[in-house]
Amino acid sequence: MSTSDQPTLYERVGGEQGIARLIDAFYDRVLADPELAVFFQDTAMDTLRHMQREFFAAALGATVSYSGRPLGQAHAGQGIKPRHLQRFVAYLIDTLKADFDLRPDDESAIVDRIWTLANDVTGNYGVDV
Ligand code: HEM
Repeated sequence: MSTSDQPTLYERVGGEQGIARLIDAFYDRVLADPELAVFFQDTAMDTLRHMQREFFAAALGATVSYSGRPLGQAHAGQGIKPRHLQRFVAYLIDTLKADFDLRPDDESAIVDRIWTLANDVTGNYGVDV
């Protein structure tokens, strides 16, 4: 960041450390919800947390690239419905409010960026019938 630039959302969340803290606290909430936890029972959570740190950092304006699968591919065939996505995003909002000291418009900007991907997560790519 040059001194004349506005800090990015990534920087306002606390950069690499902040994103790591966000992902940990967020997935603690997600995995404490039995309706969501079932989706992750066969998932290597350390790998997922790593991919999500990259994904969120890139989505919030960091100069890192996401090295995981396209979201449609990663979520296809799992039966993820809009109601699951809603709970998932509600935990993201809870985490941002409880564990971060962000302005409300920063919270909504972060959630907006994640919501734009919703169709990729719940989309029916011909697999989940
Ligand atoms: C917009 C919201 C979401 C985003 C941005 C997102 C993002 C991601 C990312 C980046 C990965 C890693 C992909 C990879 O390793 O290549 C992933 C994997 C995964 N996500 Fe999501 N996700 C979202 C919503 C959800 C929801 C609602 C569920 C289920 C309730 C879910 C369940 C999973 C599971 C189980 C995996 C691991 C799949 C595997 O190991 O094969 N995700 N997600």
